[in-house]
Amino acid sequence: MADKKITIKDGQSDNEIDLPVLDSILGPNVVDIRALEKNLGYLSHDPGFIATSSCESKITFIDGNEGKLWYRGYPIEELAEKSNFLETTYLLLNDKLPSKNELKSFSDDIKSGYNVDRSVLKIIEVFDKDSHPMAIMTACLSYLSAKYHRDLNIQNKNYRYKSTINLISGVPIISAWILNFILGQSFKDSDKTLSIAENFINMAFPKLNDEQKKLSARAMDVIFLLHADHEQNASTSTVRLSGSSETSPYAAIAAGISTLWGPTHGGANEAVINMLEEIKNSDKDVEFYIDQAKDKDNPFRLMGFGHRIYKNYDPRAKIIQKIAHEYLETLDKDNPNKPLFDIAMKLEKYALEDEYFVTRKLYPNVDFYSGIVLKAIGVPQSMYTVIFALARTVGWVAHWNEMLEDKNFRIGRPRQLYTGKNKTSYVDINER
Ligand code: CMC
Repeated sequence: MADKKITIKDGQSDNEIDLPVLDSILGPNVVDIRALEKNLGYLSHDPGFIATSSCESKITFIDGNEGKLWYRGYPIEELAEKSNFLETTYLLLNDKLPSKNELKSFSDDIKSGYNVDRSVLKIIEVFDKDSHPMAIMTACLSYLSAKYHRDLNIQNKNYRYKSTINLISGVPIISAWILNFILGQSFKDSDKTLSIAENFINMAFPKLNDEQKKLSARAMDVIFLLHADHEQNASTSTVRLSGSSETSPYAAIAAGISTLWGPTHGGANEAVINMLEEIKNSDKDVEFYIDQAKDKDNPFRLMGFGHRIYKNYDPRAKIIQKIAHEYLETLDKDNPNKPLFDIAMKLEKYALEDEYFVTRKLYPNVDFYSGIVLKAIGVPQSMYTVIFALARTVGWVAHWNEMLEDKNFRIGRPRQLYTGKNKTSYVDINER
């Protein structure tokens, strides 16, 4: 029994058990409740997983009250300023920053994975051009799970590394092809001399000049880095749960993509732009929308505001807000997205001073500004969540690897509080 414990007494039977308290390095300690069912016959009940730790992890730390986000101990602000997506990917996967040689070898592995089998294009072309790209993306990953089905061997370290590289290198290429498709462009080739972000921009926006490509790739690289991981969110938990059945990693990532798609998770950046466009095109002012968001009889919510974990400014939002400023100012003074950015700034100012938002600790989250930057780069709105998924693939794969290497690894199988009918006898249809 651990030194720290919580004692639970069952008021009905007077039975008592000690539950061990496990120390976290940072953040709340956790109570190991596994003996609860065995010794007292109870389950824990926590809809929405508000107070549930589902696993042990060393990858990402978030302090929502302080607005802290660290990858492997490194603050996101420092990584966004000094590192890049490739190096941060290595860090997330390996728990350390790479040496020069390690980074070179990792970069070579990643670039070898740019060579995605073009047979996936057949899958993309099956869709209508106005299909949602997240659905296309899920189908492509499902296709890869079929293609690599015979090699499946998750117990094998080499298989895990190969799939890790295939996914981190391949998903950006597939994303660029989906973008080519929905814009009616021909499918572009990848270029192994370029970084993931440079290659994505080059494939997606071949007509930009070199300076525009450089600026867009830099902004995109930071966006990828900021979205690379975020602890046990809905899509990462989905990848873990799906992967826990020892299914193909490509299938588990497809499940993660489906979960990320929703408007209260990754789809929020798209919803933010819809909201800003609506405000821009209406004759109502910003206060009208703030009032709507506060009205409990109105389903409208201020998209890009609020977070399950952050009860402070999302640190990623601050970084993206800065990028949005720099990007819009550097690239084009008359950028048509400037009015949207101005509305966003105004909304933020009003909300941060409004009692409703202040008391509920509702601050801008990462999606509040990421859509504006993506729009300014020229990414079609329906592709925003694909960009998020592309970046988050790194985190999903890091968590999948960590889970499979965990000594406590077993299939995830939540239980329930059953509130349905008690045993009921079948009644013949003529007698009902
Ligand atoms: N606008 C207006 N009111 C809000 C908002 C909002 N955006 N978000 C939360 N509230 C209110 C909510 O009505 C509730 O009020 P009350 O206590 O009076 O009932 C209170 O704030 C607490 O909200 P909650 O719904 O219990 O919080 P949650 O942790 O279940 O939901 C959230 C978090 C992100 C789903 C929610 O804040 C939301 O829907 N925000 C808008 C969508 C959005 O921006 N999502 C992106 C999340 S960040 C990207 C990612 O990590 O995927």
